[in-house]
Order: sequence, then structure tokens, then C-alpha cells
Amino acid sequence: MMRRVSMLPVLLGASCCVVGACHSAESESPPIAMPSEESPGLAAAVDINPDPSVFEFSLEAKGTVVSYVTGLSTSSWAYNSTVPGPLIDAKVGDELRIHFKNSLPEPTTIHWHGLRVPNEMDGAPAVQAPVPPGGTFDYVFKLTDAGLYWFHPHYRSDSQIRHGLYGVIRVRGAMEPKVDHEHVLVLDDATLGADGALPADVDDYAQLAMDQKLHGRWGPTILVNGKSDRLVELQPGAIHRFRFVNAANLRYFNLAIPGYTWRVIGTDGSLFEKPYDIDHLLIGPAERYDALLIPQGAPSTTLTLTSDAYQRADDDPQPATKVATFRISGEKPITGRVLPDALPGVGVARLVPPSGDPTEIELDQGTVGGIEGYTLPMMDGMSTPMKGDPIFTINKKAGMDVPPIAVPLGGLRTFHIHNVSHQIHIFHLHGFFFQIVDTDDLYDPKINPFGLRKEMISQAEKDTITVRSGYSVTIVGAFDRPGKWMFHCHVPEHSERGMMAEVHVGVP
Ligand code: C2O
Ligand code: CU
Repeated sequence: MMRRVSMLPVLLGASCCVVGACHSAESESPPIAMPSEESPGLAAAVDINPDPSVFEFSLEAKGTVVSYVTGLSTSSWAYNSTVPGPLIDAKVGDELRIHFKNSLPEPTTIHWHGLRVPNEMDGAPAVQAPVPPGGTFDYVFKLTDAGLYWFHPHYRSDSQIRHGLYGVIRVRGAMEPKVDHEHVLVLDDATLGADGALPADVDDYAQLAMDQKLHGRWGPTILVNGKSDRLVELQPGAIHRFRFVNAANLRYFNLAIPGYTWRVIGTDGSLFEKPYDIDHLLIGPAERYDALLIPQGAPSTTLTLTSDAYQRADDDPQPATKVATFRISGEKPITGRVLPDALPGVGVARLVPPSGDPTEIELDQGTVGGIEGYTLPMMDGMSTPMKGDPIFTINKKAGMDVPPIAVPLGGLRTFHIHNVSHQIHIFHLHGFFFQIVDTDDLYDPKINPFGLRKEMISQAEKDTITVRSGYSVTIVGAFDRPGKWMFHCHVPEHSERGMMAEVHVGVP
């Protein structure tokens, strides 16, 4: 399927640095992680393969001690001993070869969130036996689409992601906006004891508070690239591109910098031909957003990146909180930069939804042993929930009881996803991008300030979208690659408790 409609370079200014050229990994350097200046706290994965079209490196999941809060140590799990794991920087057309070793005390897999990988490389329980402790697995696939993606386990993912197992893949395309600086900022949150320790409920679901069993784990300590007090230096007058990944289980980031607006240029696997401006950039778990701004001010002036209050569902409102400090650097100010009004050529042909009724996907919540009479089928190594624990349903069934949705190979299919529960749910589809064709949750500054932006809906190719309590979203996808592809809620406390099923494409 031809996705990108044209390959015109995007010309936005004469003299700014072409993003990407500033970060090229030197092939003669040793295969160790080097710090990346523009994305503080992110270690860069170093390619050990001299072939410029192959990106090869080793990734190990294991226990490690990190410092989320300065002065405190946290025993955690990480990829290559850092949280987030190494930033993989590659380009469209590259082959990624990852030699994975599991040094955790339990099985795991890696899922490449958003990447269109062959089905057997997807890391999902439908297609891969978990890698046992001490085991290895080679993930090998081609990168077909530009964008910002991430990777995380798909085994006990509520617990394993919360332990710190996540990392980012940046795939450069032929058309990248020209900017002066680019920052990858991975957002997360944590609950830490006074000594920095993770709570026992990270491992043990039985100890989790009912409110978090219902809504998902979240905690008061905000992490940006693995630190609670992240400082990012910005050059005055320069165009800065911020690429956010929300790796939190439940927390929404409602990002604002007082006195500034974001120019939003993309999300998930897409850039927007027509960028738009907003003062609050709302990013749900597992989503990525791409936004520009030009900071101004005298050296050492600080700007506070905050997440403003957000009411997710009928749980406790998420209060406003500081996320990071942006500080104007002592670099020479740049003058005359303007943010681009258009990114010509980056658009993708819109899919025409097929006629006929969409496939209905109703998201709800039930209770083990409740009127539904449910025993949740065992999934993903999770312990059996107790009577009274919540389970999460798709069309009134949970987990492996949900019949797969069969789609012929090459078929277009429309899904109407309706959230009838009291929780927020985040629809994620493996292996494909989808386009949003309709929603009853449209942004309106007065009556629905947290609704979806029509400028986003009309341009985006998403792999993840929030469906708020009481609302619905209709999406269309082109199912052009065979296999068993998962779809699930990206609150892992929901997916691991039933809200996880499969689309079978061309499966006899
Ligand atoms: Cu990011 Cu199936 O998940
Ligand atoms: Cu959910």
C-alpha cells in the first residue's frame, strides 16, 4: 500500500540545521550508549553494523537501580540499564536487528508500538511465546514509516511497563520539518516510597487499591526521560521541535507553558500538512505528539512545562502539576524564525470508509463473579483475579473469550468503538495505522474542551486513540498485511484484565 503521496522536501527556512544530520552515530565509535544532548537523559542506541541500511544492536531487559528523584535510588527493571531504554534512531527503509536477552526473573516479550512489523515480530501473545528468563530472541524487521514509536513488553504489561521497561524508536523520513533543535521527551509517572522504592503493588496486583484496579496505576511523581526534575535548555528565537511519548499507564499529560501556544505538527505515525495551534496539548497514554515552539527570553529565564488539571473519568481528577523546567540557554539568540504554517507533501491519502455498518466494539467493565458470572480466562501470565475484582469487556466478553474480528486480506474495515463504562479507555490497534472518520467527542472550547480536535482527526494516522466514558469514535483501517493483530485498551490494568482481543487478517 502506497502511503505517502509525495516526496517533496519540506523547506521551512534557509539556514537552520537539518534535523538528523546533528545526531548521526559514528560507526567507528564503540557500541556503548552515548548521551544525547538534545534529549537529556536518553541514551542513544549505537548501531554496531557498518551497513548504513541496517541498524543492529543488543537489548537486555534486567533489574537495575535508577535514580528517578535526585538523591534517591529505585530498584527497577530497565532495557540496557536505563529508564527510558536506549533511543533507537533510524530511517525509513532501514532494517532493525535487535538481539534481545531476557535477564528478568519472569518471561517477557517486546512489542514495537505503532510500527508496521511482520506479524511474527509483533511481540504480542497471539504470535510469540514469551521469552523465558535467560532466553533470547532476535527481532528483525524493516522500518517502513517515519514517526516516533516506542517499545515495551506485552507480557504482564501493567507491571512490566510500570517497572521502567520502555524505550523510543525515532524513524526519520524523507520529509522532516527543518527545525533548529529537536527533543524527545518521554513522559511517565511513578509512586515512590520515601526511600525511592517502587510499591509492592507494582508486582502484586492483589495489593493494588481498588481505585487503581478500576482506573489504572498512576502516581504523583512525574518523570520526563526518567527524572522528576528534568531541565531542558532552549535556544532563544530558535525553532524547537518537541516529540512527546506518553509511557504512563493512566496519566494524561495536558501540557501547557504559560504565555505560549504549541504549533502541533503531528501525532503517532503522521505529520500534518496543516499544523494547528493550541495552548494545551493533551496526550493520552501510549500516544505521541509532535509540536513546535520558539522560546524567547534572556539567558537563565525559566519556563515551566505544566500538565493542567484533567478529569479522566469518574475517578479522582488529575490535579495540575509541574512536568519539567525549560530554561533559556546562553546560546546566541536566533532572530527572524517563524513557525511553519504548512508542511506541504506530508499528507496521506484519506481512506474511503466502505459502505455498510461498522463493526461494533463496545467497551465496558464488569466484576469477577458478578452478574456476568465471569471467570476471566488466564492471559499473559497474570494471576487469577479475585471475586469482586474488576474485569474489562469487549462486546460483553473478556480476553480470549472475545471472538476475533475476521477481515479479509486487503480489506477496508470500519470500527465503531463505544465506551459505555465509567472508566476512560484507550483504543490501540497493532500492525496498522487507522484514520478517524467520526466521533461524538469533538473539541469545542466552551462545552467540550477535552474533545478531539477536528484538525487532528482530518489528518492523522493514529495507532492509539482515547475513547472517553460515554463517547464513541469511528475509525477505518486498511488491513493489508496478514496475521493475528491485537487490539486492546492501552491502560494495561484494563487490557491485562480482559480488554484485549484480536483482528484476524486473512486467517483461514
Ligand atoms: Cu503499546 Cu499492544 O501495545
Ligand atoms: Cu481501558
